[in-house]
Amino acid sequence: MRAVIFGASGLLGRSVMRAFGDMTVTGTGFSRTAGALVAVDATSADAIARLLGRERPDVVVNCVGERRPAVWAGSPDQARAGNVDAARLIAAGARRCGARLVHISSDYVFDGMAPPYRPDSLPNPLNAYGRWKLLAEHAVRAACPDAAILRLPVLYGPVRFAAETNLTEIARQVGAPVELDDVCVRYPTHADEAAEVCRRLAVALLQGQRAGSVAHWSAEQGLTKYQMGLLIARRFGLPADHVRAGDADAASGDRPVDCRLDCQDLPVALGPLRRRLFDIEFPPVVEPWLTPAGPVPGQRKDPS
Ligand SMILES: NC(=O)c1ccc[n+]([C@@H]2O[C@H](COP(=O)([O-])OP(=O)(O)OC[C@H]3O[C@@H](n4cnc5c(N)ncnc54)[C@H](OP(=O)(O)O)[C@@H]3O)[C@@H](O)[C@H]2O)c1
Repeated sequence: MRAVIFGASGLLGRSVMRAFGDMTVTGTGFSRTAGALVAVDATSADAIARLLGRERPDVVVNCVGERRPAVWAGSPDQARAGNVDAARLIAAGARRCGARLVHISSDYVFDGMAPPYRPDSLPNPLNAYGRWKLLAEHAVRAACPDAAILRLPVLYGPVRFAAETNLTEIARQVGAPVELDDVCVRYPTHADEAAEVCRRLAVALLQGQRAGSVAHWSAEQGLTKYQMGLLIARRFGLPADHVRAGDADAASGDRPVDCRLDCQDLPVALGPLRRRLFDIEFPPVVEPWLTPAGPVPGQRKDPS
């Protein structure tokens, strides 16, 4: 079996490359193309067609996306292109070369007001990123009707820089006084777990097993950023009173409060799927990014 993974230099794409290790796999990057990754601009139909024509994959996975809020705000056209145009062009390319497609989407297509969300629940995104992910889903369905669309919640896993995930960004901050949102609930899911689900979905598609056009996968444990901060502080002996509960994400009005995904359908279609426990998985992921504890404001250290 031959696979092409678009967006293989990113957090999820790196895990997907490992998960598809039993296939002949080609990964693409854009700005990061170290090692064997092929540089492909996923907003170029020609570049996609050249790669797919050369590799002739049985399955394509699209992990391309632009999910940095700074880029949504500063370069919305670029962010939209990375999320929507790339999805449409990759889907059209996959269909043209006869490959099955797994397209990655997000729980941010929902408004977070009525969880849990089933694959057929009505999307209602609150922010630009969610709207682009929903537009991408529509574009994928139009260009490649038998594609599988896999919606995922916030991911964590081994990162190359702290800001690559919310979790490692929180780990970087908890050594000093910090206020973290305690309203919006997230379901941090290990990228390797999501990648394994992606592989099982791809194999099911290749075997002609019907797995539904939209699928959900998520860890079960819901946590606010504040709760994640406390877990990190307690696990690594950092002062827990550095971490204060706030409501910045909820108050912004554009972050869904609780997008819990109903994931019952996938194990029925694919068989049992391994769920990783956050409490066990997070320490080695965050440990390299912890910063030493600073003084707690308002707490004077009396000279002895
Ligand atoms: N991370 C999460 O918490 C999360 C949660 C739910 C869903 N998702 C979705 O899952 C997918 C993967 O997310 P991720 O976290 O792995 O993202 P990521 O780490 O930011 O990686 C994004 C990937 O897209 C590539 N890319 C961006 N613009 C491109 C372009 N114009 N042409 C070609 N490649 C381009 C990047 O390449 P370079 O880096 O080489 O430029 C990188 O490989 C995205 O669709 C995202 O929306 C992510």
